[in-house]
Amino acid sequence: MRTQITAANWKMNLSYPQAEELIKGLLLHDIPLQPHHQIILAIPFPYLDMASKKVHNLRNIAIAAQNCYYENQGAFTGEVSIPMLASLGVSFVIVGHSERRILFGEDNDCIRKKLLACCNNNIRPIFCCGEPLDIRRQGAEKDFIAQQLKESLFYLSPEQISQTIIAYEPIWAIGTGQTATLEQIEDMHRSIRNQIDAQYGKNIADTISILYGGSVKANNATDIFKQAHVDGGLVGNASLVAQEFISIAQSMKR
Ligand code: PGA
Repeated sequence: MRTQITAANWKMNLSYPQAEELIKGLLLHDIPLQPHHQIILAIPFPYLDMASKKVHNLRNIAIAAQNCYYENQGAFTGEVSIPMLASLGVSFVIVGHSERRILFGEDNDCIRKKLLACCNNNIRPIFCCGEPLDIRRQGAEKDFIAQQLKESLFYLSPEQISQTIIAYEPIWAIGTGQTATLEQIEDMHRSIRNQIDAQYGKNIADTISILYGGSVKANNATDIFKQAHVDGGLVGNASLVAQEFISIAQSMKR
């Protein structure tokens, strides 16, 4: 089975003590994970060091950053480089989240550079794609996603894409409480996998984990994760409550 992943995206939430408390709560629970299960916590930069020390010895819990810059070092005030993240024990980075695209002007080319920089520094990217509501209403969502893949993701080599996790997050479902239907989710995930197949071949397409994101909650995770082409979720709001996130993680395919 492909690796099944539950990734938390805390976004810009929680104070340092609250972050410590939440991680403590997650670890105390000792979530029963199988070898093909992975939990990833994408948390704010200032807490990465603390968190990566706490999960240091745990095989299937890893820490991610929510963003990075594509240059390794230099005069880029306020930015954080991938080697800096690697030096803290961070192993994943979210790249291309729709909030970065919309609020901070990141385009497909910028995301392409970030993906390549991650792979060149042995950090695994979690590449986000997803369409806005007007594109979905026009029925143009597949073309829209195809373009995001083509202009950012498909510059990676076969070895590099094999290290990448994809998250499909329809923008209209993020933080709105409105999830896509199971049919919409499975249909898009299948389409993404087919495009990877066409570009890189079936062996690679079959092994890449494709997560769904957009109002995943404890009460819908089981049904969403059951879909054949869904390999877990990227969870925003519901990842801020330990019990809710644990219950989502327990919904991964067994
Ligand atoms: P949400 O966020 O679960 O709050 O919809 C998901 C995300 O933005 O990654």
